[in-house]
Amino acid sequence: MFQFNYYAPTKVIFGKGTEKEAGKQVKSFGGTKVLIHYGSGSVVRSGLLGRVKDSLEEEGISYVELGGVVPNPRISLVYQGIALAKREGVDFILAVGGGSVIDSAKAIGYGTANEGDVWDFYEHTRQAAACLPIGVVLTIAAAGSEMSNSSVLTKEESGMKRGYKNDICRPRFAVMDPELTLTLPDYQTACGCTDILMHTMERYFTNGGNMEITDRLAEGLMATVMENAKILRDDPQNYKARAEVMWAGSLSHNGLTGCGNGGDDFTTHGLEHEISGMYDVAHGAGLAAVWGSWARYVYQECLPRFYRFAVKVMGVPEDGDEKAVALKGIEAMEGFYRSIHMPTSFAELGIEPTEEELQEMAHKCSIAAGGKKGSAKALYEEDMLAVYRMAAKG
Ligand code: NZQ
Ligand code: ZN
Repeated sequence: MFQFNYYAPTKVIFGKGTEKEAGKQVKSFGGTKVLIHYGSGSVVRSGLLGRVKDSLEEEGISYVELGGVVPNPRISLVYQGIALAKREGVDFILAVGGGSVIDSAKAIGYGTANEGDVWDFYEHTRQAAACLPIGVVLTIAAAGSEMSNSSVLTKEESGMKRGYKNDICRPRFAVMDPELTLTLPDYQTACGCTDILMHTMERYFTNGGNMEITDRLAEGLMATVMENAKILRDDPQNYKARAEVMWAGSLSHNGLTGCGNGGDDFTTHGLEHEISGMYDVAHGAGLAAVWGSWARYVYQECLPRFYRFAVKVMGVPEDGDEKAVALKGIEAMEGFYRSIHMPTSFAELGIEPTEEELQEMAHKCSIAAGGKKGSAKALYEEDMLAVYRMAAKG
């Protein structure tokens, strides 16, 4: 067990109808002029945007709006948002949407509160000193950005997708009404469940220490998400399952499931960010497409964790042959992905990278990681390329 810091300052307001609270929460955190930020239209169609505006008006809070965030959010809209926020004297950003909207809001928050080009933070050439306060009305259980310290942006002309972590961007509050997720397309529900699982798996497969309480929380979270992902596959209107998955999404990425484990892996995420940076695929689907290849590439270097995962999470019977059990666990996880219609290879993801493109992704991934990445096994550029090639073979 390792020492750790756990910092999860976001106030959570959870349950049916809680979006009516948005105005009150903004006021309680000192917002007087709000930028409402949202995506490509789902919140307009569902009427949520109107309800959020009503709740701000009830509190006498003025606002401006900026919609149009797309999945894998773009820096160009962030620049527009920064200009708007500065021009209008915005002092609070309310993100109404999913991870893409929240991440775009965080970037606007950095860009408004700091001089210079906001992309510098995503290139890690300097640190942000401040961020406008952010509030969230969450519409999809997936990225966990509603409680996380990270945001991920894409610079469209180069296809560079880069993340930046800083505790100052953690949202002040997150309103989570599971009913808001009932309108999600099935594919997005499954992508979200995959991402939630991955955020815990990235913290679980490490070669550091372990802490039993953390491991059991992680195992419970993973089992719960898998169970409810299947319920939602068959019954997308199931409120209880929506609620289980929504809370799991926040707990999976607010640091809780990594306490004491001595370092995240997050290589599958690094590999995926290059895939969605180049091919603009959904993040969750990209993760599923590459995870099995990553797992087969690294499992022998992290055998006790893969063995434990197979037995405790995937229900593989205990056996003296540790490698065989670990491999059965990986196969079972891939079986789960297929059961919720997630891809387990590049072909199933619908992309066909050339060898040059695989090399480009591996190169960019290693640069973004500063040379190597991973705790289960440290991967260098040639290892990353080997994993991509495995995913390309299928
Ligand atoms: O834009 P709208 O019209 O709202 O449609 C969205 C979008 O097309 C739709 N959607 C969301 N809520 C809906 C809905 N449709 C109907 N009903 C609803 N209630 O779903 C689509 C996906 O939305 P998006 O926000 O892109 O999903 P997600 O939350 O998965 O976010 C993905 C982004 O987050 C990043 C990913 O890389 C990706 O760019 N991540 C951010 C993290 C963080 N900040 O901590 C960590 C993650 O690992 C991840 O990298
Ligand atoms: Zn993720």
